[in-house]
Amino acid sequence: MTTDTTMTAAVYSRFGAPEEVHLDQRAIPSPKPGEVLIRVHASTVSVGDHRARARDIPAGLGVLAAIGLGVLRPSRPILGMDAAGVIAAVGAGVTAFAPGDRVIASTGGAFGGHAEYVRLPADGPITRAPDTMTFEEAVTLVFGGITAQCFFTQVAIGPGTSVLVNGASGAVGTAAIQLAKQLGADVTAVTSGGNAPLVTSLGADRVIDYTREDFTAGGDTFDVIVDCVGNAPFSRVGRLINPGGALLLVISDLRSMVSSRWHTRRSGKFVTWNVGRPGADDLAYLVSLADSGRFRPVIDRTFDLADIVEAHRYVDTGRKRGNVVLRITHLESDAIRPGAAGTKK
Ligand SMILES: NC(=O)c1ccc[n+]([C@@H]2O[C@H](COP(=O)([O-])OP(=O)(O)OC[C@H]3O[C@@H](n4cnc5c(N)ncnc54)[C@H](OP(=O)(O)O)[C@@H]3O)[C@@H](O)[C@H]2O)c1
Repeated sequence: MTTDTTMTAAVYSRFGAPEEVHLDQRAIPSPKPGEVLIRVHASTVSVGDHRARARDIPAGLGVLAAIGLGVLRPSRPILGMDAAGVIAAVGAGVTAFAPGDRVIASTGGAFGGHAEYVRLPADGPITRAPDTMTFEEAVTLVFGGITAQCFFTQVAIGPGTSVLVNGASGAVGTAAIQLAKQLGADVTAVTSGGNAPLVTSLGADRVIDYTREDFTAGGDTFDVIVDCVGNAPFSRVGRLINPGGALLLVISDLRSMVSSRWHTRRSGKFVTWNVGRPGADDLAYLVSLADSGRFRPVIDRTFDLADIVEAHRYVDTGRKRGNVVLRITHLESDAIRPGAAGTKK
């Protein structure tokens, strides 16, 4: 429960198992000039939270990850890479948002979404929440949606482009299918058989059950391959990519990262691991699709903040479908009072 100055947050002070995460009271941040304070109603527990908490980092990237996550102990004790909620206060100079606005935001590598309040730069990836969605639905646009969208803006996808999505049933994969279909692509989804109905319902034209069939063995080729699993480096799938096509490595190890430019130069096929800089425009595009019924939230399970350990345990299975939502409920009397944290108009 919040007081005027404190909030409930899910925190971890050591890297490790889900049980390292527990609820604690933290100071409600005050928005500085150019920042907003969001009263969070929903976040997701993503594979990004799992990776940070468990230090489950792709090969070769441990040192780089330690810079962002902390060396001996977590430098960002509140996880949560996204948030949906209401602007509670704005810092000096913020005109794009006002208290009361319903928003969704990507907190990204700064984390912080698993708390009653989060403070963010107003010019970052924040936008109005879709009118048609609850906060629990709206927050599912952020983690997978912004990732898929940022990769797709780097390549040409249009009517008839053949796109293979490896790992199609996760948060990024379910978004990638929907965004590719939106652009008119012909989509092949790689997932296990049990998830075939899900990916088909999102628009996939063809499904390859990876438990029965190796998608690299069939002789089919694609204009764009999106790897959301980490088992499709250029050395394995380069020959499946049509001339001038692209390999989007949503997850990759250091070796794939350093060789991507070389592969691009040598093959003429664009290979990238770089998501780019997610912005408010990317989120706004997702919202416009959602508001017109062209992007569907995919929610596997919903947990209350109090059940954060359970939520982490479930995400740790690696089997989640779409998103695991974290519901953060507030008592009306818990709302911060004017002046307690920045400007509340
Ligand atoms: N570059 C970036 O900025 C960025 C951003 C977001 C995420 N990522 C990374 O992208 C990856 C995907 O993220 P996510 O959120 O989509 O993950 P996720 O939601 O945790 O993915 C879970 C899904 O992966 C599927 N899966 C597991 N093994 C598979 C395999 N061998 N072949 C096909 N599907 C398989 C599972 O389906 P089954 O149960 O059917 O196996 C499950 O539905 C993660 O490694 C994450 O760290 C990178």
